[in-house]
Amino acid sequence: MAQTKKPWSGRFQKATAKDVEEFTSSLHFDYRLYPYDIEGSIAHAQMLAAQKIISRAEANKICAGLKNILRDLEKGKIKLDAADEDIHMAIERELTRRVGHVGGKLHTARSRNDQIVLDMRLFLRNQTEEIIGLISSLRKLLLKLAKENTNTIMPGYTHLQKAQPVLLAHYFLAFGEMFSRDAERFADGIKRINVSPLGAAALAGTGLPIDRHKTAKMLKFPEISKNSMDTVADRDFIAEFIFASSVTMMHLSRFCEDLILWSSEEFGFAEISDAYTTGSSIMPQKKNPDIAELVRGKTARVYGDLVAIMTLLKGLPMAYNRDLQEDKEPLFDAVDTTKNCLMLFTQMLGNTKFNVEKMREAAEDGFSSATDIAEYLVKKGVAFREAHEITGRIVAYCLKSEKQLVELSLADYRKFYKGFSSEIYDVIKLEKVINARKHIGGTATSAVAERIKEIERKTK
Ligand code: ARG
Repeated sequence: MAQTKKPWSGRFQKATAKDVEEFTSSLHFDYRLYPYDIEGSIAHAQMLAAQKIISRAEANKICAGLKNILRDLEKGKIKLDAADEDIHMAIERELTRRVGHVGGKLHTARSRNDQIVLDMRLFLRNQTEEIIGLISSLRKLLLKLAKENTNTIMPGYTHLQKAQPVLLAHYFLAFGEMFSRDAERFADGIKRINVSPLGAAALAGTGLPIDRHKTAKMLKFPEISKNSMDTVADRDFIAEFIFASSVTMMHLSRFCEDLILWSSEEFGFAEISDAYTTGSSIMPQKKNPDIAELVRGKTARVYGDLVAIMTLLKGLPMAYNRDLQEDKEPLFDAVDTTKNCLMLFTQMLGNTKFNVEKMREAAEDGFSSATDIAEYLVKKGVAFREAHEITGRIVAYCLKSEKQLVELSLADYRKFYKGFSSEIYDVIKLEKVINARKHIGGTATSAVAERIKEIERKTK
């Protein structure tokens, strides 16, 4: 790394030590903020001219220079000097190299402290919108899968033990609800991201006659921040974003866990396409659900990013501190990981076959309609506790005699409660069990179809 002249060098007698340059530099990771940094600088320069802080000709020169730099950066035509401390200084140096002395006027009435928050806000607004789009694609796929499976019966589980039959559509829509909350959470975060920090300068504002509303408007911020110290110290919007990402990852990890289990020979409920699985280097028979496992694993990283940002902010004195430079890597990691996982997961799910016969078989055996026997007895006037006890004894009898509930004779049933009639065989039919739960939120085909309609109406 070549040593460079620092913009603050006036006060210093010695050059920065080389190791310090490397230690303090953030360019290798904040480089990706360049489109936002340039967008913000163009708005700032225009405001400076409108306020007659710099001349219109100077602003034009600065803006033209910045636009050229942007174009060249996008084409990969320039390499920024690695000796620069961060993206702000690297772009400013390049600007001055291109347009001369006037480049030095850009930083009037601004500090890197409000500049970096601006870059982060512009970046995160954009990324949040992309993530909301990815969640929306996933929800569309879930809706499609739900619509295809309003008659597919599978065993529902609690404690990973067969509990009651449910529709596969109901299962997909359960995740639909989770991801809908996630999208809302991200969208809500945009309200707090979407606040212009420009004008806060280092921490106290500026004595120059700036127009904060003007820059805010140019950068499409509906609001401007209300306290210059808070403006440069605040990273709540980043913590919130990583929290929202963590919840989304958590939801994905739970879905993945089910798909991993369902892909096992023991379950056999799902088969992920070859294109979205990997093999084993030693065991030729294997087809592994690696994507699902990696998504589950990467959830841990995003939680780590959340812990990193919360710990970074804890006890930090007012206002800006260099510690805050460490907000970027966890944020970028959370953004990239969440986006990748949403993308890959959606592709994988779209390329998974569900074995509806296997699911139905699994729902048939076991005692997933036991609750319905108890509820049948309740309808006959038996107290629920007693009905539970009677049904429990019936199940125990089935286990001992290795029979399913449908295989017991009416005489068998009557041994446990005299009031049983042949209706019981209808009650324990899977379709009956499912369709009895027809209230809002229940798994009956009618209730699920109603929810599908509602979602379609809302997402139109
Ligand atoms: N690279 C810094 C950051 O990420 C930018 C602000 C630096 N400000 C300063 N006074 N050193 O936070």
